[in-house]
Amino acid sequence: MIGKCGNLLLCIFAWCCSVCFSATTLLFTEYLDSANLVSISWGFDNNGGPITIQVVANTTGWVGFGFSPSGSMTGSDVVIGGVNPDGTVYFADRHATGNTLPLVDAKQDYTLIDLKESGSTTTMTFSRQLQTCDTDDLPITATPMILIYAYGSNDIISYHGASRGVKVINLLNYAGSVQSAVNYSYFDLTATNFTVPNLTTFYYCKIVQLPSFSQKNHIIRIDPLIQKGNEDLVHHMVLYACPFDKMIYLDGDCYFGPNSTTFYLCQVVFAAWAVGGGAFEFPANVGISVGTSQDPLYFRLEMHYNNPLATSGRVDSSGLRFYYTPQVRQYDAGILETGVDVDQKYVIPPGANIFKSYGLCKTNIFPSLLSGPVSDLNVFASLLHTHLAGVAIRVGHFRNKTQIGFLGVNENYDFSLQRPILLGQTAVVTVGDEIVVECTYNTTNRKNVTTMGLSTTNEMCLAFLMYYPRNAIANCNSVPMVIYNSSIMSQTPSNWSNNSIASFQQLLKTSTQTVIVINLTAGVNVQEGSILDMQPSLVAECKSIPIGHGNSVLNNYCSLLYLILLIVVIYYLEEIL
Ligand SMILES: *[C@@H]1O[C@H](CO)[C@@H](O)[C@H](O)[C@H]1NC(C)=O
Ligand SMILES: *[C@@H]1O[C@H](CO)[C@@H](O)[C@H](O)[C@H]1NC(C)=O
Ligand SMILES: *[C@@H]1O[C@H](CO)[C@@H](O)[C@H](O)[C@H]1NC(C)=O
Ligand SMILES: *[C@@H]1O[C@H](CO)[C@@H](O)[C@H](O)[C@H]1NC(C)=O
Ligand SMILES: *[C@@H]1O[C@H](CO)[C@@H](O)[C@H](O)[C@H]1NC(C)=O
Ligand SMILES: *[C@@H]1O[C@H](CO)[C@@H](O)[C@H](O)[C@H]1NC(C)=O
Ligand SMILES: *[C@@H]1O[C@H](CO)[C@@H](O)[C@H](O)[C@H]1NC(C)=O
Ligand SMILES: *[C@@H]1O[C@H](CO)[C@@H](O)[C@H](O)[C@H]1NC(C)=O
Ligand SMILES: *[C@@H]1O[C@H](CO)[C@@H](O)[C@H](O)[C@H]1NC(C)=O
Ligand SMILES: *[C@@H]1O[C@H](CO)[C@@H](O)[C@H](O)[C@H]1NC(C)=O
Ligand SMILES: *[C@@H]1O[C@H](CO)[C@@H](O)[C@H](O)[C@H]1NC(C)=O
Ligand SMILES: *[C@@H]1O[C@H](CO)[C@@H](O)[C@H](O)[C@H]1NC(C)=O
Repeated sequence: MIGKCGNLLLCIFAWCCSVCFSATTLLFTEYLDSANLVSISWGFDNNGGPITIQVVANTTGWVGFGFSPSGSMTGSDVVIGGVNPDGTVYFADRHATGNTLPLVDAKQDYTLIDLKESGSTTTMTFSRQLQTCDTDDLPITATPMILIYAYGSNDIISYHGASRGVKVINLLNYAGSVQSAVNYSYFDLTATNFTVPNLTTFYYCKIVQLPSFSQKNHIIRIDPLIQKGNEDLVHHMVLYACPFDKMIYLDGDCYFGPNSTTFYLCQVVFAAWAVGGGAFEFPANVGISVGTSQDPLYFRLEMHYNNPLATSGRVDSSGLRFYYTPQVRQYDAGILETGVDVDQKYVIPPGANIFKSYGLCKTNIFPSLLSGPVSDLNVFASLLHTHLAGVAIRVGHFRNKTQIGFLGVNENYDFSLQRPILLGQTAVVTVGDEIVVECTYNTTNRKNVTTMGLSTTNEMCLAFLMYYPRNAIANCNSVPMVIYNSSIMSQTPSNWSNNSIASFQQLLKTSTQTVIVINLTAGVNVQEGSILDMQPSLVAECKSIPIGHGNSVLNNYCSLLYLILLIVVIYYLEEIL
């Protein structure tokens, strides 16, 4: 009886541990060296950490990995671990004061999850908080970080000789490895010798067609293709899918010309790039489907030209390059636009140090616009978008009126650095969940109100969520109903004060929201909703709590499993007695 009980407990315990640790899946992998001898894989909780890192090195000796302020050993924060010939393991959080053996930290902030040898490789998996509160550790921030590694041929930790290296990776803001796409086919969708008008800002649109495919293919990587010399001119590019099988070829002013009514038909964001962005690679199990009868064939390519000196006669042929493969991956990717509906009646006051706008998406509306069962949305990346006044954007994920996480956070939003950012963990949005997009603006230098609108001097508050498997919902945005109440809006001050700015922000936030959901075939459903309060994002917070005792969903799950374990123990103890 005792033996059986022990085995069962062991089994449940092992299961619990594996569930708890595997819950932080390692979504990203990069080699740290050109010979592919050392790699890291990592993943993190989107709600401010912890981060889990796995280092794989081609050695049976010791393995060192860490963060360096300069690329050298001095001042670096490292872990060194390995498996002894007798099978025992060693692992410690250390810091280097120079080119000498790194000292063991007084406070151990790295938690070893697994350390094993297999053949000629050692695999070391550990986790830590982003900010550990230990002066011997470096904080992990959403910036390119200098990673260092070294390894030895045996378990005597000593000088590493040539077995060392450095690589810079932005672990928390990762857009995919920029490994060569040379062996993939590609097609380009571009403007062709378009003469940019002598206006400071211009949205040029062009209907383009995909090449024809003989079978289903997956787009797995998208690169910007900026014409040489026009880097200052091309501000952002968005490719919207058109709903019709047959589309007329048109081009010209996106929003104010005679062709714009046709352009408006193409509303589903398919790809996006903005100044400062690079290539975007999809996760290994996901691609954008092309070549089937369900896939869009015609697109509106929107080129946003920023021409501050209103120079005339500049010609541009920039666009996007799509790498694709017939080896289709497990899932088709979809893109959902969510945030504040672009409505000129929505005003942002001038002279505001901070003004927050809120948009709401209620996914309980989705089934009414989709035929058949509705799958969960596995969100893997988000592209956050405001215009020039935006300084921060956060996307909150709510279930049953409680926030369960973030689908995107940028506390230092920069208009000129927009690109899709992969989440540290795939977030599952189930039907019924609500999504709130919060945009923070700074209009200190503006004299008049800013309205929501299409020009860069207007504002937007949008998040494009990239997810799988794709469904036919195109966008899910909201507007505060109060903006249509002329008796209230006519009372907005012409001379804004901090107080009136704060009460106007509150008026828009607490107003009933009209949530507008549109599907691919232009089916529309409108419902009312209200904005829920968002938790502070924790990315920059210093955390000394050891991993496993935080209050994340993951840890609650572990607590639940331990509770079950405890009940089982009590049950068996009662059996024995
Ligand atoms: C890994 O190490 C083993 C043993 O030192 C060696 O035989 C093998 O070639 C190495 N692998 C690579 C990819 O270099
Ligand atoms: C591309 O394909 C060639 C020939 O098949 C191969 O030699 C090369 O290693 C491949 N390059 C990459 C980056 O996969
Ligand atoms: C664009 O202009 C260049 C230079 O005038 C010319 O060589 C090229 O053929 C043009 N491309 C197209 C597609 O018209
Ligand atoms: C701008 O372009 C318009 C129309 O092409 C032209 O009439 C006008 O003179 C141009 N202005 C300048 C300053 O070049
Ligand atoms: C509308 O599209 C057609 C076809 O591309 C183009 O010739 C025409 O100039 C466009 N109109 C405007 C005002 O841009
Ligand atoms: C808003 O912008 C002004 C002017 O650029 C700057 O001085 C101020 O610090 C900003 N406020 C915040 C809260 O970032
Ligand atoms: C939502 O919360 C209510 C009240 O707390 C509860 O009765 C209901 O079961 C919850 N629904 C879900 C889906 O968790
Ligand atoms: C301020 O903006 C509003 C709305 O865009 C506009 O109607 C008004 O003319 C502007 N006032 C000034 C002084 O520019
Ligand atoms: C507009 O707001 C006023 C004041 O709160 C309210 O009395 C009125 O019913 C509202 N009008 C509409 C059309 O909702
Ligand atoms: C705006 O308000 C400030 C104080 O709140 C006042 O000093 C100023 O005269 C007002 N300006 C106008 C144009 O009303
Ligand atoms: C608003 O408050 C800031 C400091 O929080 C102050 O610098 C600014 O002058 C105030 N603006 C107005 C219009 O009162
Ligand atoms: C879009 O919604 C409309 C109205 O509910 C529905 O008839 C249509 O089938 C939907 N389209 C798709 C692609 O599901």
